Amino acid sequence: MAVTRTFSIIKPDATRRNLTGAVTKMLEDAGLRVVASKRIKMSREQAEGFYAVHKERPFFGELVDFMISGPVVVQVLEGENAVKRNRDVMGATNPADADEGTIRKTYAESIEANSVHGSDSDENAKTEIEFFFDEDEIVG
Ligand code: CMP
Repeated sequence: MAVTRTFSIIKPDATRRNLTGAVTKMLEDAGLRVVASKRIKMSREQAEGFYAVHKERPFFGELVDFMISGPVVVQVLEGENAVKRNRDVMGATNPADADEGTIRKTYAESIEANSVHGSDSDENAKTEIEFFFDEDEIVG
């Protein structure tokens, strides 16, 4: 199976509760390698741009407000079949639907404050990585 990359965000509900290390350990234990990582405070423009695909959704405004409510940790993760591997360890978007042992089941507070974001395809992973990282910031 090919080694690929995906993009991850540790969201404000998790950084607020000092869970950056705990979430990262679950990612690493799932076979993902953190090849880039930075803690940032997203601007409103960044959050609106990143989530532009959702801009017609009723939760868009609240989603953007939440994502700029505190620091986030943006990461590039590498591993075999990284997009699926990451989505499997994240669990379902709504923690009420997430499987035992997943990050969202373990830590998420709600569908909005759901602790992590992960790309849903290789194509979106590339776009999302390029949104936050220059190639020289990514080191295996
Ligand atoms: P994420 O993977 O970051 O992508 C979009 C986010 O919107 C999603 O995780 C959720 O945290 C958030 N969100 C808030 N409300 C909803 C909703 N009703 N349905 C889907 N996503 C929602």
